[in-house]
Amino acid sequence: MRIILTKNYEESCEKVAQILLSTVDMHKDACLGLATGGSMEGVYVEVLNMLSQRNLSFKNVKTVNLDEYVGIPPEHPQSYRHYMNVHLFDHIDIDKKNTYVPSGVCSPEETLAEFKKYLFDHPRKLQLLGVGSNGHIGFNEPDSSLDAEAHITNLNDQTRKDNARYFSSIDEVPHQAFTMGIGDIIKASKIALLIHGRNKIKAVQELLGHTRISTQCPCTVLKLHPNVDVVLTEELYRSAGF
Ligand code: F6R
Repeated sequence: MRIILTKNYEESCEKVAQILLSTVDMHKDACLGLATGGSMEGVYVEVLNMLSQRNLSFKNVKTVNLDEYVGIPPEHPQSYRHYMNVHLFDHIDIDKKNTYVPSGVCSPEETLAEFKKYLFDHPRKLQLLGVGSNGHIGFNEPDSSLDAEAHITNLNDQTRKDNARYFSSIDEVPHQAFTMGIGDIIKASKIALLIHGRNKIKAVQELLGHTRISTQCPCTVLKLHPNVDVVLTEELYRSAGF
């Protein structure tokens, strides 16, 4: 695991954006695993900034997102499809037919079959990840199976509370989501994990300390992956006691 320490959130986002763009530079037809959430917003801002200064096409790139809320249609402002369009896809030359975000409103069986097939057919050169305050990756909550494939998960109370900031009340936060399983996440050739926010201190301690790999803190499975970059501020790293 390579730990990249930065001065601030903006620099963390720059590092992750550089990793994403150098993947596309090296593999013009790469499949990228993408993430949403507050931490990733700055990464996509940086990607767009960097693209405004260099010529790099996403014409042959394919993408697949980690997750989507069950019951939220693609055009809903809090859907992850909408997030991806607004933060990235609408501003680059990618063909949206090459971007996959599971549908929150189609038949669950069909969506899961389609999600699994897409992952099988498109091995990812890179997977971007954030981490939840409870250590989740994708929406693999504590106690998730470490080898799971794409599935529907129940969002736990902490995750619903953390994400309530995007909805008008906690009651509107969905109770379930489609998510890549941990088994899918770790199949990506390379993983770039951005850890942002003081509420992630416990996850930093569990991931970067000499603790066990545990289903109680799903991000600890990344200790097993041979090619992971973990990007966080020096301040967060020190606050976690390192
Ligand atoms: C998002 C995702 C989640 C988030 C995590 C952190 O697609 O899969 O695991 O990365 O919940 O979210 P933020 O960045 O909002 O703290």
